[in-house]
Amino acid sequence: MAKNTPLKKHKTKAEKIEWLEQKNAEALLGGGQKRIDSQHKRGKLTARERLELLLDEGSFEEIGKFVEHRATDFGLEKEIYLGDGVVTGYGTVHGRLVYVYSQDFTVFGGSLSETHAEKIVKIMDLAMKNGAPVIGLNDSGGARIQEGVVSLGGYADIFYRNTLASGVVPQISAIMGPCAGGAVYSPAITDFIFMVENTSYMFVTGPNVVKTVTQEEVTSEELGGASTHSTKSGVTHFASANEVQCINEIKQLLSYIPQNCEDTAPVYEYDLNEDAVRTVLNDIIPENPNQPYDMREVIEGLVDEDSFFEVHKNYAENIVVGFARIGGRSIGIVGNQPASMAGVLDIDASVKGARFVRFCDCFNVPLLVLEDVPGFLPGTDQEWNAIITNGAKLLYAFSEATVPRITVITRKAYGGAYDVMNSKHIGADMNYAWPSAEIAVMGAKGAAEIIFKREIAAADDPEAKLEEKVDEYTEKFANPYRAARRGYVDEVILPQDTRKKLIRAFTMLENKVATLPKKKHGNIPL
Ligand code: HXC
Repeated sequence: MAKNTPLKKHKTKAEKIEWLEQKNAEALLGGGQKRIDSQHKRGKLTARERLELLLDEGSFEEIGKFVEHRATDFGLEKEIYLGDGVVTGYGTVHGRLVYVYSQDFTVFGGSLSETHAEKIVKIMDLAMKNGAPVIGLNDSGGARIQEGVVSLGGYADIFYRNTLASGVVPQISAIMGPCAGGAVYSPAITDFIFMVENTSYMFVTGPNVVKTVTQEEVTSEELGGASTHSTKSGVTHFASANEVQCINEIKQLLSYIPQNCEDTAPVYEYDLNEDAVRTVLNDIIPENPNQPYDMREVIEGLVDEDSFFEVHKNYAENIVVGFARIGGRSIGIVGNQPASMAGVLDIDASVKGARFVRFCDCFNVPLLVLEDVPGFLPGTDQEWNAIITNGAKLLYAFSEATVPRITVITRKAYGGAYDVMNSKHIGADMNYAWPSAEIAVMGAKGAAEIIFKREIAAADDPEAKLEEKVDEYTEKFANPYRAARRGYVDEVILPQDTRKKLIRAFTMLENKVATLPKKKHGNIPL
């Protein structure tokens, strides 16, 4: 237990200064050396060590270091730890202001008391007033059990502010320990979640409660570890091998995004004349339209070297989303991934894409869409789990986005997915197609089987007839020129010129102003 020496014993100026220094030293120890050692033994850093890694050296200014809890039940009045289990304040990352809180597991397991919540609320309010991101490093056993409803109230105060801050300032959550109950809902409302492999968990109820209620036996890792949430549920956007990597990735993410919704992302110096023509792009699309390729190769060929920062990498891999820079400027990329399930749109891919598009639109990050999509995934599983509602989320997200929006159709743009993937009709600013593009209601075989059904059935050789009709449909529609004739595609371009075209088009769109009709807020299909 911390000493919490009373002030009244010290009278002289020198004693007062000594007392302050002693209190400062006490605060730095959190729940005490023994618990700090135990934190280290588990392969975890302390709350303060994490902040040191996150913030520019010497930039941290702490707020509320001497805050103490006010609880008196269960002997709590005798257990006072300065700061009450959370280190809060502000500092800079790469010279830019951020507000931070870092929960201290050595104090009541980082659990959230009334005063702990008040400290978080204070920095969130400051972040909103001053327009800077909030980064929360979470390591908490949830509501402080001894405090009862005041702790629940504290959580609700934070959830409310998370919601008000949504779309105003970027909010980033790192999960760096066991986060249960209330400790998962604040991160869930924020823009991005990072987890650390093997030392962090997120669940509404832990394995013991699961066993009691559903008789399921499951480990913490299986139930809510980083790999579960980065692959199965999609709750976390990033899963890092360790805490240092996690914090470095948070810093990297910040480099692509602005401080608030009225700001734009930082621009990095980049030599625009550098290899604007990239011939490597000419060879990516296979000769056979049914053969897969990796859309990441297209992305690497288009963006500034090593600038692609993928989000949700291992979840819904049939769509690729992430940030990159092109000519030094930040963009958000949404690309169908032919290398996974032929790039088809399913429920998870639609939701993943929609969430990313909405983040970019909130924070003025222009969007690039790379399209190669055979359509929406058919089947009972998808229909019964509401592919209609979920697919509509992506359609809605693109349609309401007012940031500069450019599409490049690399190959297939079939059916409803053509409309959804940032088509001209739903407000895209510039739409390009490669000569390999196929833009049609559906694939040639399916189309021929439907529209020439009777003719094929009546033919002496139905197989040969089908083949003939498939060829006819392919000839007519499996190209970008019908769309180009209508102006649905602005230009059919050589793959090697795409980077140059994009740099010019994004520059041309830099001052785009577009507004939505006056409304309270839209009603995205949830
Ligand atoms: C008070 C807590 C605490 C809590 C942990 N501690 N959780 N104190 N309130 N919620 C204390 C422990 O008593 C212990 O104190 C220290 O923190 C470390 O905890 P351990 O159990 O020793 O650590 P570990 O084995 O690593 O387990 C961590 C844990 C476990 C998985 C987080 O402690 C746990 O299950 N805690 C309870 C989780 C929970 O049910 N929270 C309430 C959720 S409900 P000492 O003194 O020994 O160091 C909720 C409602 C909000 O949050 C809903 C809003 C929507």
